Amino acid sequence: MNPPVYVKHTRLKAWVDGMVALCKPDKVYWCDGSDEEYQRLCQQLLGAGTFKKLNPAKRPNSFLACSDPSDVARVEDRTYICSPNKEDAGPTNNWMYPGEMRRTLQPLFDGCMKGRTMYVVPFSMGPLGSPIAHIGIELSDSAYVAVNQRIMTRMGRAVFDVLGKNGDFVPCVHTVGAPLAPGQKDVPWPCNSTKYIVHYPQTREIWSHGSGYGGNALLGKKCFALRIASNMGRDQGWLAEHMLILGLTNPQGKKYHVAAAFPSACGKTNFSMLVPPAGFDGWKVTTIGDDIAWIKPSANGDLRAINPEAGYFGVAPGTNFHTNPNCMASLDKNVIFTNVALTDDGDVWWEGMEKDTGHLPEHLIDWQGKDWTPAIAKETNTKAAHPNARFTVAATNNPALDSAWDDAAGVKIDAFIFGGRRSTTVPLVTQARNWTEGVYMAATMGSETTAAAAGQQGVVRRDPFAMLPFVGYNMSDYFQHWLNMGDKLLSSGARLPAIFCVNWFRKGGDGKFIWPGYGENMRVLKWMIDRIEGQTKGHENIFGISPTYEEITWTGLDFSPAQFQAVTHIDKTAWVEELKLHEVLFTQLAYHLPTELTATKAAIALRLDA
Ligand code: GTP
Ligand code: SPV
Ligand code: MN
Repeated sequence: MNPPVYVKHTRLKAWVDGMVALCKPDKVYWCDGSDEEYQRLCQQLLGAGTFKKLNPAKRPNSFLACSDPSDVARVEDRTYICSPNKEDAGPTNNWMYPGEMRRTLQPLFDGCMKGRTMYVVPFSMGPLGSPIAHIGIELSDSAYVAVNQRIMTRMGRAVFDVLGKNGDFVPCVHTVGAPLAPGQKDVPWPCNSTKYIVHYPQTREIWSHGSGYGGNALLGKKCFALRIASNMGRDQGWLAEHMLILGLTNPQGKKYHVAAAFPSACGKTNFSMLVPPAGFDGWKVTTIGDDIAWIKPSANGDLRAINPEAGYFGVAPGTNFHTNPNCMASLDKNVIFTNVALTDDGDVWWEGMEKDTGHLPEHLIDWQGKDWTPAIAKETNTKAAHPNARFTVAATNNPALDSAWDDAAGVKIDAFIFGGRRSTTVPLVTQARNWTEGVYMAATMGSETTAAAAGQQGVVRRDPFAMLPFVGYNMSDYFQHWLNMGDKLLSSGARLPAIFCVNWFRKGGDGKFIWPGYGENMRVLKWMIDRIEGQTKGHENIFGISPTYEEITWTGLDFSPAQFQAVTHIDKTAWVEELKLHEVLFTQLAYHLPTELTATKAAIALRLDA
């Protein structure tokens, strides 16, 4: 019950006391982050039926959790930014006045942990003690959250040493919202249909009620490292982004670093672990991060990026030895799988794995615990794994991990990439001619929605910077922050990172992806490096600069000029419609919208008319 003696932080202890008084758990447990503790909590989750142990001969030290079918993804319509003024949350966020939200949450949190244990989870986003890292303390009544946080963050006792008596931390309170009456039997995945994912940017607090899944519950991730951190970044002059970070080494040994923003389930993990295809001997891609980047300007005008996380919470379906061999290798041991299917020999399975074996398994237990056979699947059109099924694994399991992934100084960013999932309209790759044009491309990006968030899938929506659900303040002010960052770097005499916009997802008349994607994306990456080195000219179009067919290295791939045309062609009629959607976005964001962006749009419209 009592805090360990090594916790010397009076304010922190008082906060925990207050939360215990409110949530009324049966027990309080302070996590130390040890391996012994991880194993013990996993055993406990096995006992509770939350975890199934996988066959140790196939997946050593690995577990499968299957969630309640109502709790499978982030809930964007239940996510709130409670700044004092509505304008500060902006039109893209749900907003409630902080006082009103506190009154709403008070009865929900009162007694919410009855019959359960409150885990005190200390974690650092970024290398422990690094000047760019920030600390959070998550109070959660979910042991599943505690063990996931141990993988996803630097979690444990050492955090208290860094905090000392008075260090800053972001208080994060999480409850599944399912108190137990005396003697009441628990369920394997407790949750509540009333969900609130609440952020108070002014006081830097996070309160989450009702969900045990992913970004709703692992509060270091989207809640802290993006929504709260974007507020810190705006105030302190840095960027918190939904970006992977990769290192790219050419055959001569020169190394580049690229940060790329794609919306949820649109290919960040895949891209960050890319294996160069045939024809790229001597090229190497290494992973720094797969989901979140914190990017800070250094004194000489470079942008330095770190991955604040320590693990990957990645999409399982679609992952196989063809699409992402490094990821498959990362999953060989010490993994928590959530909502994938269980094979008869105690291993895991998800859609896409048949590409490796050449056939579907004869029988599985699907993510909802039901029998699954190819015949049942065909008849009922049910998936064995939920489309947003995930794995949680430590970065150190990744064979392609970059040697600088844990470096507190971060890596120097040479290029930014922004990419959406668009079956039409947006070409394979375009380079912005300058920073403002790049900010415009990112700001107006659209993408088809995926299973990573609850709600309708496959509808195109604007997803500026792949940050629509993650900017913790007014979107227009966020655009301005990016423009200011460019001005600041320019005035320090630095060369700004190049900005590119990509789309791997254009489809042909047959409804299939035209671009082979995955490892073949290396061909586009190489063109970008050539551009940065001034070795290719590209050709100008109305939006920026795109490659000619001859400028792409095609060795080892059969991709005709006609196919290339199909993924790069700019359809004027489609772009007239696209610009109308930009206009709808700009009308929505009119308050504080930077004039540079409306001017850029006008220039594109003129070129389109010409
Ligand atoms: P979050 O973790 O949700 O933020 O997503 P992410 O961007 O890391 O997504 P991830 O890399 O896990 O992408 C998952 C989905 O994108 C899977 O369905 C993949 O098959 C698909 N995908 C990834 N890269 C490519 C690609 O180059 N081409 C195509 N067609 N699909 C891709
Ligand atoms: C995303 O949805 O972008 C994710 C998964 O990376 S979650 O942690 O659930 O946010
Ligand atoms: Mn993500």
